[in-house]
Amino acid sequence: MHIIGGTASTALAERVSRELGNAPFGIPFKKRFPDGEMYVRVGGRVEGEDVVVVQSTRTDEDLVELLLLLDAVREAGARRTFAVVPYFGYARQDRRFFPGEPVSARALCRHVELDADAVITVDLHSAQTLAQFTKPAFEASGIPAIARMLRERPVDVLVSPDKGGVDRVRRMAQLLDKPWFALDKKRIDSEHVELAFPAEVPIPIAGKHAVLIDDVITTGGTIVEAAKLLQKRGVGAVSAACTHGLFLRDAFERIKAVTDEVYSTDTLGNPAEKASVAPDIAQILRREASP
Ligand code: R5P
Repeated sequence: MHIIGGTASTALAERVSRELGNAPFGIPFKKRFPDGEMYVRVGGRVEGEDVVVVQSTRTDEDLVELLLLLDAVREAGARRTFAVVPYFGYARQDRRFFPGEPVSARALCRHVELDADAVITVDLHSAQTLAQFTKPAFEASGIPAIARMLRERPVDVLVSPDKGGVDRVRRMAQLLDKPWFALDKKRIDSEHVELAFPAEVPIPIAGKHAVLIDDVITTGGTIVEAAKLLQKRGVGAVSAACTHGLFLRDAFERIKAVTDEVYSTDTLGNPAEKASVAPDIAQILRREASP
């Protein structure tokens, strides 16, 4: 099995290679043509091998690179190609909200699987997106990675900032054997939210260390409001953990100002990266790909 690390996921790809007993690992050559178009070239002999391209698609540029790398690998005679897309961009538009809109997540699934025999991603925005792939598609979870890291830290209670995250926080609570609850969230617009405590909070939280668990932090609006709300109830410390840390603009600084710690996995490089999903991706590859 060969692992290829795209520009957006080089470090994670290398970690996956190490998890697989130092599977051959390569970084493609990349440059721009004078007109701005991207050029990539994959080195090494991959003919007849299973090849894994690891590339998050946070930007449109990342997406083009992923599509070019998958085509290059197929051209080079790979036996099977695995697209590992740790952060799968466009996943939030998973349905048509207004007439005239695309189902962007579905459009991206179709294009990514064009030159891939299987797709592996991490914590997709919604489970229905996985069903949009017509080829084998697998979703790793960021929860075990965050749980491995939180086990080493003092944690009293886990909190989901919204009801949509109940399954996630419940799973984390099972892994860490901690109590949990979910806040009520009302989204005002893409940057602003209103949060409230549920009618019943299962345990007293004054003086406790609460950890907010979310799948993605984007503008930081949700976590900032949630942290402030918990502090009003007198928590002793509040931390925030997510799988995908996008941290747009000054989101990281704003969150740091109201929390004790910020944790994220390595699906996107960021200053909060303290847990790796490499073991979880490697586990799927060990099962699905040939060594
Ligand atoms: C919502 O469904 C997600 O789980 C996150 O809570 C949300 O996307 C975070 O966005 P922001 O950081 O912009 O509040």
